[in-house]
Amino acid sequence: MKIKNKKFLVVVSVLFLVVLAFALTGIPSDSYAADNKTIEKGKKVFEKYCVICHGPKGDGKGLMGIVSRYQKKGSVQTIYPRDFTTGVFRFRTTGTGCLPTNDDLLRVVSGGIPRAYMPSHEDVSLDERKAVIEYIKTFSKRWKEEEACKPFVVKKPAFVASAESIEKGKKLYKDMKCWECHGEQGRGDGTKADQLKDDWGDKILAFDFTSGALKMGVASENVYTAYTAGLDGSGMPSYEDSMKEDERWHLVSYTLVLMGRTK
Ligand code: HEC
Ligand code: HEC
Repeated sequence: MKIKNKKFLVVVSVLFLVVLAFALTGIPSDSYAADNKTIEKGKKVFEKYCVICHGPKGDGKGLMGIVSRYQKKGSVQTIYPRDFTTGVFRFRTTGTGCLPTNDDLLRVVSGGIPRAYMPSHEDVSLDERKAVIEYIKTFSKRWKEEEACKPFVVKKPAFVASAESIEKGKKLYKDMKCWECHGEQGRGDGTKADQLKDDWGDKILAFDFTSGALKMGVASENVYTAYTAGLDGSGMPSYEDSMKEDERWHLVSYTLVLMGRTK
């Protein structure tokens, strides 16, 4: 009898905690929900422009399959279209583990992705681009279950690209072991470079700073965003917790040097 009572107590307190958790975190809102008409329209846009790469199920297995395969530094690199079913996105202005904002997705869909052969879609009407974004959200239930994360506020300090900031960034590049993946000179040939795999188990190259545009974009603000958000799913970590804001900007200064974008 005594034991039964205890069990009852446990059940009640667990139930209480569950209710409390919901009260504190809020029941997932439907802030992402789009109406059926938009989704239908988005589906048509997807079938016209995206399905060849991203596949009818949004799993990246379109007719195109592999977008590019090439040999670099002795190993074969393959680029696949993104699989939307996991709901993991790389180019965000939100924290690591978060879903991207609509603006993040619009930027990618409009501008395409440099170095990854995803084309730009500036010629598709804005309405259609917005609709296709709602449609790709239907491939993963993360969009129904999770609340939106707030995007970062990005404000470039005046010291970026100053000699002092570059020096500090250079030290951080060493201390934070960026070179393990990216190499001492930022050529993507670090000691770990050969073993890097993305979340889907495919080989991935660490960025070669001398090779041109970041996938995120080349402005200082884009580089800062890459360091703050991380490129989820790619192995490129977020440094939001392990580096102070100023430090991330110093690293931006040094990145500009490695990319040959300042003296
Ligand atoms: C020629 C092939 C190709 C076409 C066409 C294409 N994509 Fe992509 N897309 C890619 C590749 C490759 C990637 C992965 C790039 C990477 O991870 O570096 C990608 C990634 C993405 C991402 C992920 C961005 C992130 O933050 O991770 C989105 C969203 C996306 N594509 C949307 C679209 C939409 C919408 C269309 C149609 C309007 C489209 N793509 C057409 C090849 C393509
Ligand atoms: C565990 C390996 C690893 C470490 C450590 C690492 N990176 Fe990366 N980084 C990557 C990979 C892999 C990519 C390529 C992602 C892609 O192409 O989608 C990348 C991409 C980048 C990019 C290009 C982003 C873009 O938008 O294309 C920059 C810049 C960068 N890293 C800088 C750094 C700096 C600075 C550090 C240290 C603070 C660092 N990385 C630490 C693996 C790593």
